[in-house]
Amino acid sequence: MMQLNKESGPQLSRRLDGVSESATLKLNATVQQMKTQGVDVVNLTAGEPDFWVPEAAKKAVIDAVHGNQSKYTPVAGLPALREAIASKTNDQQKSLSSSRPWKAAHVLVTNGGKQALFNALMAILNPGDEVLIPSPYWLSYPEMVKLAGGIPKFIPASGRQGFKITPDQLQNAMGPHVKVLILNSPSNPTGALYSKDEYRALGDVLAQSPFGKNIWILSDEIYDRIVLGATPFCSFLEANPAWVDQTITINGVSKSAAMTGWRLGWSVAPEKVTQAMLTLQGQSTSGVNALSQWAAIAALKLPESDFVEQVSSFRKRRDLLLENLKKARKIDVYIPEGAFYAFVGIGQYLRSGEDSMGFAQRVLEEAQVAVVPGTPFGDPEFVRLSFATDERSILEGCQRLVRYLDAV
Ligand SMILES: Cc1ncc(COP(=O)(O)O)c(C=O)c1O
Repeated sequence: MMQLNKESGPQLSRRLDGVSESATLKLNATVQQMKTQGVDVVNLTAGEPDFWVPEAAKKAVIDAVHGNQSKYTPVAGLPALREAIASKTNDQQKSLSSSRPWKAAHVLVTNGGKQALFNALMAILNPGDEVLIPSPYWLSYPEMVKLAGGIPKFIPASGRQGFKITPDQLQNAMGPHVKVLILNSPSNPTGALYSKDEYRALGDVLAQSPFGKNIWILSDEIYDRIVLGATPFCSFLEANPAWVDQTITINGVSKSAAMTGWRLGWSVAPEKVTQAMLTLQGQSTSGVNALSQWAAIAALKLPESDFVEQVSSFRKRRDLLLENLKKARKIDVYIPEGAFYAFVGIGQYLRSGEDSMGFAQRVLEEAQVAVVPGTPFGDPEFVRLSFATDERSILEGCQRLVRYLDAV
């Protein structure tokens, strides 16, 4: 948590009071530092695929460099990229797009999905507005909400309910001050994935609520391609096309095309909110790096079949991780249906007064395995293990962890 304005001298903005630094980015930096010092750490914290950027995307960047694509691009993004994003979204939301297809004008290209989420919250929220966030959640949501002046309101979704909120819970959480509902499927950190029926049931609650007409749905679909179980990915609007005028869909190529460092995401939303987000972006960061946009155009042209192998590799690694983790008998293991994380309960291993932050620190120092504590994701008795790494590291990491936990 930021502790600002304690010292004398020029003061900093109160905007950051109570806002936390990204725990995952910080932890990753510590692990990298340990590695450079020669410590043999098994890193199970990765928030990005360990595959390389598709060749076609690399070539598009090289061609763009040689073609002198070095000038500012439109703030909203290259027209060809906005078209490609609208088309991808239409493919995923067929029950909507047959009557109301998205067009380039509804798309804003951003510096990763993160900026799209931030822009959206900044464009929507007034001080005191409430934002419903199913918990566990991706750790940046509440911090972004606070930065935008809103108040995060968590809806607890335990492992026993598949880390998914129920229609009754949503109904009880609705109220006159609720302005946004954030949904994330597949989820980081839990891997939970909402089926079409489950999403439809949530949409029905919103439709019946007297407060439903005042809220925005922020649907973060950044892990759409990484589906590991039998339930297919479903976009919120595919299940609930009637919500077209109140939904902002967020996505990007970071996770789906292994382009995390190239910072390319987007929002697809009604023109009113797209325009507001565009104004914000135009006065802050302008258009996204031109080269990344050319790469994304190429990545979006690739057929789904090009990624099948990556997804089955994630599936295989997930199974390897779970099978070996279960050997520590007091770990609560849940099966992730998507993304590349397992969110596991370590409550029975906690020492008195300790939460997952202390546990992760202990495991890092004493077993040389880096895992991400669940506390900043909303659950102090869980840790997140990433299987976006090679099988040897997964096996070695699990073995070290199980050996350590058996001994303590
Ligand atoms: C759920 C979720 N949403 C959004 C993002 C942001 O993605 P990007 O790297 O495209 O900004 C992440 C990245 O970890 C994520 O896990």
